[in-house]
Amino acid sequence: MTRHLLEIDDLTPDELTAVLDLAEDRDPPQVLLRRGVALVFEKPSLRTRNATELAVVQLGGHPLTLRHEEVGLAEREPVADVARVLSRYHAAIAARVFEHRKLEELAANASVPVINLLSDEGHPCQALADLLTIRQHFGSFEGVSVAYVGDYNNVSRSLALAAGLVGLDVRLACPPGYGPTSADLDRLKLVGLDPLVTDRPAEAVAGADVVYTDVWTSMGQEAESAVRRRAFEGFMVDGELIAHGSARAVFLHCLPAHRGDEVAAEVVDGRQSLVWQQAENRLHATRGLLLWLVAGPES
Ligand code: CP
Ligand code: NVA
Repeated sequence: MTRHLLEIDDLTPDELTAVLDLAEDRDPPQVLLRRGVALVFEKPSLRTRNATELAVVQLGGHPLTLRHEEVGLAEREPVADVARVLSRYHAAIAARVFEHRKLEELAANASVPVINLLSDEGHPCQALADLLTIRQHFGSFEGVSVAYVGDYNNVSRSLALAAGLVGLDVRLACPPGYGPTSADLDRLKLVGLDPLVTDRPAEAVAGADVVYTDVWTSMGQEAESAVRRRAFEGFMVDGELIAHGSARAVFLHCLPAHRGDEVAAEVVDGRQSLVWQQAENRLHATRGLLLWLVAGPES
């Protein structure tokens, strides 16, 4: 059976641990020798494109990045046809899209694994790197708590699901109207998570070991940025807020960061910040995922 990663809860807790363990293999088998991986991007990227291309290279394969202008998913050609054609050339298809349903359509019609490189709903490859960073820093997930401050968006949705799968304690601080929906909370319950949800950042951060934030305006929401800036007033992670965290608290951000909006420079550039290790881990996590998907989850 072809496995896909459209959201992090496509993996069981054991499978997620297996991917994280494979991510630590710095001399991996060349499972992609003479094979390609197609990377389709409808949105900009720095980390995801670099990390995924290099992950393919480190497994012996050839990454082929295709921009939206070239492929025109659902515009130049039906999504299903793109999936069928790319499956004939490549060992896997990875895509960054606006509408999540395009990933579902790719997966429904592909005969090779499809990987979500970020959609409006989720960013599971980011969540893998986040977990890897947390595990590397704290040694395990046991007793580690995560406070996410900001928009309940693609990044935080995948992060919360991932955290639930590995048993992290999660608190979410979101302005009214920007938090998880009841459907989001139901999905979190399926991975065993019933997080504290508050609109008071200090309440979520109190005693937390990891303080995480993301942009207030995601790609595609630019027209809302003035409204969002007002709604998120008081949600910047600054020195005063992170001081409510535990004595061992660290700061994570998927990047790109907007200093002075969702995070203060003193935090993202400060001693508690692990964001560069986290960015590097995008490479290791994606390589682990590809290894697991391509070499066969059963192997
Ligand atoms: N964190 C992340 O996905 O970064 P890019 O948008 O630059 O790929
Ligand atoms: N939430 C952000 C994440 C960027 C990596 C966005 O979708 O733009």
